[in-house]
Amino acid sequence: MSSEIATKPYSLSWLGHFFSSSVGRKLIMSLTGLFLCLFLAVHMSGNLQLLKSDGGRAFNEYAYTMTHFAPIKVVSYITYFFILLHAFDGVALALKNRQARPVKYAATPVGSTWASRNMTLLGVIIFFFLVVHLKGFWFEYKFGAMPTVTYDGKEFKDLYSIVKEAFSQWWYVLLYLISLVALAYHLIHGFQSAFQTLGLNHKKYTPIIKAFGWFFSIGVNLGFAIQPLYLFFIQQS
Ligand code: HEM
Repeated sequence: MSSEIATKPYSLSWLGHFFSSSVGRKLIMSLTGLFLCLFLAVHMSGNLQLLKSDGGRAFNEYAYTMTHFAPIKVVSYITYFFILLHAFDGVALALKNRQARPVKYAATPVGSTWASRNMTLLGVIIFFFLVVHLKGFWFEYKFGAMPTVTYDGKEFKDLYSIVKEAFSQWWYVLLYLISLVALAYHLIHGFQSAFQTLGLNHKKYTPIIKAFGWFFSIGVNLGFAIQPLYLFFIQQS
């Protein structure tokens, strides 16, 4: 194999080898993970339009912009791709680790947290949440027979009524809250772990990165959690 590479000086096969190696996969996971953190912060902030008492107008207009503005559409496709890449590499790394260590540690590794030992499980929960979430809102918006509303003579899909209807069911709200707890744990460990993978391991800065990771994870997930709770308790009454 190595002689094959050696006879092809311009071969890109080293790139393929690198990105399927553990180091390469970890690098991809950290970069895609940080991008997805940014997506989550923007998604959560945009969705706060759900809290306006305007019958859903601001949210419907926001959803329209997000799905009709070309640069945002490109970012959306990058997001879908990065979610799949992040999940695929996560599973590949977990399987590799399991093969390398078929017998579980007898004792909990020193310094490890519950979240750090359960990142794959948390990731799988988030993935299943995403399937339900995208089917319920995103798929309906893009491909479903949506109700419409007219503002100033222009027709909009009434995504707000779909979201409000979904969060009128207690079990749907509960499903979201449980998934958001899983996401919070996943982010708390993932955030600082991404910086470590990128080599940013410093006596002074690592505690700051860890603290910011906590602040970010709790903040984003509280921001998300308010939305179903508000629609269930305030808007339905
Ligand atoms: C209460 C919390 C949430 C609400 C109310 C919500 C609402 C929505 C709605 C209405 C859409 C479809 C509209 C659109 O495509 O712009 C959407 C899309 C999406 N949501 Fe959420 N979401 C929530 C939490 C989450 C979480 C926690 C994640 C990730 C773990 C997530 C990931 C996504 C993704 C990837 C899309 C597709 C975005 C795109 O097409 O660019 N959402 N969400």
